[in-house]
Amino acid sequence: MTSFVLRAVLLGSLALPIAGAAQLPAPAPQSYRPGLGDLMTMTVQPRHTMLGLVGREQNWVYANYELHELEEAFERAARAWPQWRSMPVGGMINSLTKEPLAALAQAVKAADATRFATAYRQLTVACNACHQAANQRMIVIKVPEASPFPDQEFRPPKPRSDASRGRFV
Ligand code: HEC
Repeated sequence: MTSFVLRAVLLGSLALPIAGAAQLPAPAPQSYRPGLGDLMTMTVQPRHTMLGLVGREQNWVYANYELHELEEAFERAARAWPQWRSMPVGGMINSLTKEPLAALAQAVKAADATRFATAYRQLTVACNACHQAANQRMIVIKVPEASPFPDQEFRPPKPRSDASRGRFV
């Protein structure tokens, strides 16, 4: 009895891998590679929008965060698409956006709304300069007039009062 059970277990453990090997290997999962236009609308555009909105509200902590997110969105787009048609994406991004991004970083650090507005317009001009260089002049980016995010607050949070401290509301 014992040896029968043992044999069954041993056979079972041998049979399993053999049965597995007889099956066709599972196809490798196809990795999703968004197009450059997808990355623009999924990552670059919302970052640009949010940066404009938080800058307008002089929410400098958020603006600092969003600026880095935008830089990373550009970096990832350039990594995914080193070249778009004949255009070197990373090189174009660098040459066009480096200055406005640096000006934005300075404005955010100085908490200067006027400098921020100027640098933000420069960045927006850079977006369009690249679209024109890529022969995509119908894609025109502008300074956002209103928030497309109905569920998000862009004004800086009010400092917590003593009464609310320690509560979960
Ligand atoms: C490398 C230069 C370059 C820069 C810089 C750039 N873009 Fe683009 N963008 C492109 C190209 C090229 C396309 C078209 C890609 C495609 O069709 O696959 C595009 C497409 C887009 C689209 C897609 C429109 C649609 O309807 O699909 C949006 C939105 C966009 N860009 C926003 C921006 C914003 C906002 C910025 C600046 C913060 C920016 N882009 C900066 C090159 C650039």
